[in-house]
Amino acid sequence: MKQIIIPNIKDVKNLKGKRVVLRLDFNVPIKNGKIVETMRIDRAMPTVEFLIKKKARVIILSHIGKDASQSLQPVVRYLAKKIKVGFVPDFRTAQARTVVDGLSEGGVVVFENLRLDDRETENDADFAKYLASFGDLYVNDAFAVSHRAHASVVGITHYLPSYVGFLIASEIKHLSLALSPKHPFLFILGGAKFETKMPLMKKFMKIADQVFVGGILANDFFHDVGLEVGKSFVDKYDFKLTPLLKKGKIILPHDVVVKNAETKKVSTKQIDELSTGESIVDVGPETIKNLIPLIKKTKLIVWNGPLGFYEEGFDKGTIALLKVIADARATSIIGGGDTAVIVDKLGIGKKLTFVSTGGGATLDYLENGKLVGLDAIIKCKKRK
Ligand code: 3PG
Repeated sequence: MKQIIIPNIKDVKNLKGKRVVLRLDFNVPIKNGKIVETMRIDRAMPTVEFLIKKKARVIILSHIGKDASQSLQPVVRYLAKKIKVGFVPDFRTAQARTVVDGLSEGGVVVFENLRLDDRETENDADFAKYLASFGDLYVNDAFAVSHRAHASVVGITHYLPSYVGFLIASEIKHLSLALSPKHPFLFILGGAKFETKMPLMKKFMKIADQVFVGGILANDFFHDVGLEVGKSFVDKYDFKLTPLLKKGKIILPHDVVVKNAETKKVSTKQIDELSTGESIVDVGPETIKNLIPLIKKTKLIVWNGPLGFYEEGFDKGTIALLKVIADARATSIIGGGDTAVIVDKLGIGKKLTFVSTGGGATLDYLENGKLVGLDAIIKCKKRK
């Protein structure tokens, strides 16, 4: 597949004094006012630092959470440890204009959560125009929200010369490897929600050599072939999975970690040994061990979704497989979301080729090879 060239801010000459509206994705998990996971912020810093170095005046826009209920203040406090940064608590007031007008060259300000205003998610043209009025240029480096047609992602590109930043360029460069893969290519699919993952499964059944299915998704296969899955969560869907198995590409766990609903006892069992009172919570150690020879001869590994009931602490299978991959020679691309959080906790990010910052955006890009936010930059008519 041909690599798409997306206009990048690094190629823009003379940014000195220019007001740059920079869309980032600071949608990070916060507990008791503290950021739990900073990957998205850290990975956005090269673009922020580049703009500061070029003496641009930087206006950072982001959302946090689904609605207006959360504040970006903890993120601003975190940023303030790295750079000098101001904050506008309500970007709809005259204060926003005053602060931006007073920004010095190399100065940075963050506007409060964009979802304070419903017009953001509605992709309202007036709101997009209002946001654009703060800048001379627009940069999207918010890969994780680039699957959303929102005012600060899509609408704004109608009013300003628009570019992507370093993070998006890196995401596209690496995720594209999955779309025109080297072989042998192993695709690993975990997590829950069969409906959302099915398109990926179908797509990678065509282009990968093997597909290892873990997580709740695997339960659906076990259930479909008539195995006892006890109290395991099984998604409801109206298609048959057995034809997929017949293609011979799918590898399923053959041992699993199970939890007894009554006694709460956790044990490892072969997949045909489950009793009605048990539920599958993780892949077993034998399954991981048996994957090692395959991983050793694989050239490309793309992985999306954890293998166990991660929310309840069943992350051993995912951790064990990540360690095997980290020590392998294959190019390794890890989809974002929960798997990325585990990578970060283990501190093995540097031993993997790439860890995506996206959740839904990563799935969308892998499935379709494009995102609305990127198309908007490519099609922007305001660039000379
Ligand atoms: C994400 O976390 O996937 C992005 O920040 C998008 O958030 P959203 O699903 O609330 O639009």
